[in-house]
Formats: sequence, C-alpha cells, structure tokens
Amino acid sequence: MSDAAVLPSNATRTTAAPGNPAIEFIDVEKHYGDKTVVNGLSFHVQPGECFGLLGPNGAGKTTTLKMLLGLTAPDAGTIRLVDEPIPSRARYARRRVGVVPQFDNLDPDFTVRENLLVFGRYFGMSGSEIEAVVPSLLEFARLESKANARVGELSGGMKRRLTLARALVNDPDVLVMDEPTTGLDPQARHLIWERLRSLLARGKTILLTTHFMEEAERLCDRLCVIEEGRKVAEGKPDDLIQRVIGCDVIEIYGPDPQALRDELLPFVGRMEISGETLFCYVDDPAPVHQRVKGRPGVRYLHRPANLEDVFLRLTGREMVD
Ligand SMILES: Nc1ncnc2c1ncn2[C@@H]1O[C@H](COP(=O)(O)OP(=O)(O)OP(=O)(O)O)[C@@H](O)[C@H]1O
Ligand SMILES: [Mg+2]
Repeated sequence: MSDAAVLPSNATRTTAAPGNPAIEFIDVEKHYGDKTVVNGLSFHVQPGECFGLLGPNGAGKTTTLKMLLGLTAPDAGTIRLVDEPIPSRARYARRRVGVVPQFDNLDPDFTVRENLLVFGRYFGMSGSEIEAVVPSLLEFARLESKANARVGELSGGMKRRLTLARALVNDPDVLVMDEPTTGLDPQARHLIWERLRSLLARGKTILLTTHFMEEAERLCDRLCVIEEGRKVAEGKPDDLIQRVIGCDVIEIYGPDPQALRDELLPFVGRMEISGETLFCYVDDPAPVHQRVKGRPGVRYLHRPANLEDVFLRLTGREMVD
C-alpha cells in the first residue's frame, strides 16, 4: 500500500451510515496473469469492530487490503469502504481511513516530526492543526525523545511505531493495518495493543492482518482465515477455537515424535506433528499424561486450545486422524 498523496483536499467527510458496514467485500476476485490470488472473497466489518484477516504467506491478505484502498482494482465483485464504492470513490473514502502498510514507507531524510507534518498536509490539514496533534502522536508511539531525529537514524521498531502514529494523523474512522506489530519487541507490541484497544473504545473500526495469533485473539472481535485467496473460516475467536478444535491440546517435545505418535495412537483421537512437536487433541488427557510423565528427554505442555491451533489446522499441519 502506498501513501495518501493523491487525496482530494476539499471532499466532504464520509463515514458509513448507521447500520451499514464500514467495510464490505462481496464475491471479490483478483487475478495476476493465470494466478487467482483472491477468489470469491466476501466479508464485512461493522463500525466499531476489530476484524482480523489471517492467512499464511501469499494467501492474499495484502492484495485484499490494496483492493480495499483502491490501490489495485478487483477483477470481479463489489467493495465498499465507509459507504463509498471502491475503486471509483477510493480517494474520498481514504480521507476517513488511516493506513499502516506492510512495509514502512516513511521518508528517511525527514525527521520524525517532519514525517508527521508532511503526512498531515496530504490530508489538507493546516500547519497549526497538525502541530496540535503531533505531541499526542509522538506519545502514542513513545517517540517523544526522537521528534527531531531523522527517520534513517531510527531502529526498525521505532519506524514501525512512527508508521502507526502517522496513520492517526487525520483522526480516521477506520484503520487498515497490514501486520501492524511485525518487527516490534514484546513491550512495544503490548503498548500498541493497548493503544489499539483505546482506539476501539473510542469507536474506531479496525481491519488488520497479522501472523501473531495472540494478537488476533486479544484484539479481534471477528476473524476471517483465508488460504490461496479463499475464505476457509470466519467467526469470533472463541467460537472458531470451539468449532475447529473443541478440546484440550497436549504438546509433546521429544527427539522422536513419530515413535511417540505411534505409541499414543490407541489413546488419542487426533494428532499432528510439526517439526519436533507432537500435538495431541484430547478429550481425556489421562492416558497421555501417564505415558509421557517423567520420560527422559521428553517435555510436555497440557493447555486449552488456542487460535494458533485453529490456524494450523485450517491452513495445514501434517495431520494424522
Ligand atoms: N503485483 C503482483 N504481481 C503478481 N503477483 C502478485 C502481485 N502482488 C501479489 N502477487 C501474488 O499474489 C499472492 C498474494 O500475495 P499477498 O501479498 O496478497 O499475500 P499476503 O497474504 O499478504 O502474504 P504475506 O503474509 O507474505 O504478506 C502471492 O502469490 C503473490 O506472489
Ligand atoms: Mg502481506
């Protein structure tokens, strides 16, 4: 996704009418040459909702967001953003949208403050309007002490935080964020989660992509999992966990997961191997506990199912039924 350099400065404020989704995709398709990268995708995001788009590398998440912002045209289907048809009215819709692209596109020769100022200008804001919001944006990103540092001198995580702050310069109704916390350390990630939750509490709508299942589970009201451009599941995180997994998981780490799998086969309904880990999906954990407890070289963890289990189940992990 690129910046907002072409936004019209005199457009009227546009936001979804009451009851209408803030974002709507109906049967959207996108092809690159012979390859179908988005395949009949439909979903909607209500105002005030946090909606997560999940999928493995190459699933079509960024392409979906680019189509939403009018940066690439769909080959079929209907897209609406804050009640505007996309791509025909994308420039107007984007006045009410903050964008965090997958890869930072800050100007490395400008300072942190100048990047915010320039971006605000794209939205037709006056110098004094932008100056008024810069302190809170710097605080949002915890970059107060770096206001006059050149972007080229910032660490990767600081740049990411600046990109997030920059997306808020126009006080958008809708935030579209492509992997917002990729590259952030755990403290910064928790800080951003807290900030995003406060934006949601203020009624903002968020569409995000992420590879962090904990992020999706903590932030998102609803999720859509896509694979090869197709929707493979949609729902609330807890409902998906219940529907797709629906039991506890025992993870067993050991030198020979195949041998363990063969041994446990009579006692476990379903197992999967990923690398050196054997995942056992158990209604009754006792027989597994009995067999792995105290065994030399073997560690295990019994836990409730989580969204990562759902993701791996839906998008492929070697499986034995
Ligand atoms: N401009 C392009 N031309 C041709 N193919 C493209 C183009 N952009 C994306 N693709 C292809 O479309 C598919 C989806 O790419 P996309 O970037 O949307 O995936 P993604 O889900 O965002 O992946 P990631 O998690 O790695 O960011 C990939 O196969 C990619 O190679
Ligand atoms: Mg992507």
